[in-house]
Amino acid sequence: MEKSNGLRVVLFPLPIQGCINPMFQLAKILHSRGFSITVIHTRFNAPKASNHHLYTFSEIPDGLSEAEASTQDVTLLLTLLNRSCEAPFRDCLTKLLRSSEEEKQRISCLIDDAGWIFTQPLAQSLNLPRLVTNTYKVSFFVGHFVIPKLRRERYLPLQEQDEPAEEFPPLKKKDLLQILDGETEVLNSYSDMILQTTKASSGLIFVSSCEELDQESLSQARKDYQIPIFAIGPSHIYFPGSSSSLFTVDETCIQWLDKQEDNSVIYVSFGSVVNISESELLEIAWGLRKSDQPFLWVVRVGMVNGTKWIEAIPEKLMDRLEEKGKIVKWAPQQDVLKHRATGGFLTHNGWNSTVESVCEGVPMICVPSVWDQLLNARFVSDVWMVGLHLEGRIERNKIERVVRKLLLEPDGEVIRERMKLLAEKVGRSVKQNGSAYRSLERLVDHISSF
Ligand code: UDX
Repeated sequence: MEKSNGLRVVLFPLPIQGCINPMFQLAKILHSRGFSITVIHTRFNAPKASNHHLYTFSEIPDGLSEAEASTQDVTLLLTLLNRSCEAPFRDCLTKLLRSSEEEKQRISCLIDDAGWIFTQPLAQSLNLPRLVTNTYKVSFFVGHFVIPKLRRERYLPLQEQDEPAEEFPPLKKKDLLQILDGETEVLNSYSDMILQTTKASSGLIFVSSCEELDQESLSQARKDYQIPIFAIGPSHIYFPGSSSSLFTVDETCIQWLDKQEDNSVIYVSFGSVVNISESELLEIAWGLRKSDQPFLWVVRVGMVNGTKWIEAIPEKLMDRLEEKGKIVKWAPQQDVLKHRATGGFLTHNGWNSTVESVCEGVPMICVPSVWDQLLNARFVSDVWMVGLHLEGRIERNKIERVVRKLLLEPDGEVIRERMKLLAEKVGRSVKQNGSAYRSLERLVDHISSF
């Protein structure tokens, strides 16, 4: 760590895995630049303070009941959290500001996720600059504010579903319909609030993106928002390895990978939020087995609707799966993607997973489920052409075909080569004088200037 610069930054991550990881990456970066770090967090999905002994932690009550805390509806969860955290957060922040005055260590700003919509007016009332982080791809963040408008106008293209959706490229019309299908009035007003409070903030930080992945959308955002915008990622490259996992990591994955041949394994994971049905579980199981390629498959506890784990897989099929692969509850994903044996990633295209795969040059098989994942998948398959898109329903024959194509056929080799070039380009951005590196320097200056 650089010598302390006498400034403290307060971070407030949204308590979901896809937001916690990037926020802790940012914490590590800022700490290495001399800032002291305080993390305010909810009791729900609290980060493990013991993994981060250099930071100070303050827990606030979140008011969630057990049933609310286990909801699969992320919008509902975030709405409840925004409602119940406001008062405890205000108390906590006010106390921190008071004690920082006494200790003569200035709190320079609050940095929290765009999804916290009550913090902007609160920070303003306390005269504390607030910077907003966002973990989506920039083009999704900038583009998705059109969705409430489309919903109000009852967007319904009945034909040419495979054609591009001009309202939100590079989505196809059918993707946009799928996104709109999950839309509700609550989500629309939540999006409106995110836009308003972000525009009123002192700056917007994209922790997991850079000019190389998002140039056009970054220019657009700079025009539209008129606040400083930073694209400092992929930030996990600065400090590899995640110490902010909410799940218990099964480290035996790496020993298992050590026994496999180079580029032979298909890694399968749908992140921390997506759930699948029992029949999808079976289709994936059969597809992987029929592909006859080694696989490492993450099935979270509770991820398969209506069952505990993988008990829906019949014993005979289980025996056959074990001949070729390994199923775990949570993997050290960044290490898995870095491993020489990993040849492809069958993913839901959460933005963190997508970027981690790009950084390690691992081509993808895209199986997006909801929301930004559909856009990320189109970038991977149609724009950068570094992956294959599994269109429509999850079916065993499709999985078998696409896995074999990616790992064994010349088409897969071309995709892998393209992915290598993209990985190099993105890797350069975080090196000295790369675009992300320069953006990070500007961010450090910006925070120091408050
Ligand atoms: C959520 C949304 O679902 C996603 O659409 C959005 O882009 C970000 O927020 P999540 O579904 O968890 O995220 O996916 P993703 O963004 O890919 O993040 C998952 C994180 O968990 C990654 O950093 C990944 O490395 C980590 N992970 C996942 C593990 O460490 N081990 C695993 O077994 C699976």
